[in-house]
Amino acid sequence: MFVKPDYDCTKCERLCSFRNQNKQKFKTYHNGAVDSFGHLDSEVLVVGLAPGLNGANQTNRPFTNDYAGDILYPALKKAGLAKGNYQKRADDGFELLNVRVTNAVRCVPPQNKVTTDEIKNCRPFLIDEISNMPNLKIILALGQVAHNAVLGALGYKLSAFKFQHGQLYFLKEKGLWLLDSYHTSRYNINTGVLTSAMFDDIISKLVTNLN
Ligand code: URA
Repeated sequence: MFVKPDYDCTKCERLCSFRNQNKQKFKTYHNGAVDSFGHLDSEVLVVGLAPGLNGANQTNRPFTNDYAGDILYPALKKAGLAKGNYQKRADDGFELLNVRVTNAVRCVPPQNKVTTDEIKNCRPFLIDEISNMPNLKIILALGQVAHNAVLGALGYKLSAFKFQHGQLYFLKEKGLWLLDSYHTSRYNINTGVLTSAMFDDIISKLVTNLN
């Protein structure tokens, strides 16, 4: 059975209290655990960090109306992994093709920072995503938090798999590839850690590995 977090998931005290504050402040926002986006029969799973306050936490679609989505979604579309026009709304008709997108932590954290306990609390949902994707071939981890969360969910020790932008690991016991990328965050783009061209190269590597 596919298990996703309840809208009002209570596993993380800090995230619950932040959510309650946001419910007062941003009455039209989703303000709950954010659903994954894309079909479970996809071959690709993109794992991000957590919803942004005015982005996925507002729209209930990962990366939607978050700066990071402005890099992620056009790159997927350019590579033929999405169709429609990404317009930063959950009802924009934008569709992912052979890709599902989720987050290591499903609820918005204060200052975009998650704790180790919050990642652990949310792990069962990531495990469940992965085990309900029968055609899954490759997981794209956006940033080190996602990289660690994926390895934790799959039962691997982190020490054997250093996070490195562009690194592709074969997780042979699972028959899955793990591809690392710097997160498409505003900070990484503004500081030049990641450029759109570098991210396009990551998506090309992903596509090459699918074929
Ligand atoms: N929005 C998300 O849903 N996830 C991220 O990692 C960043 C922004």
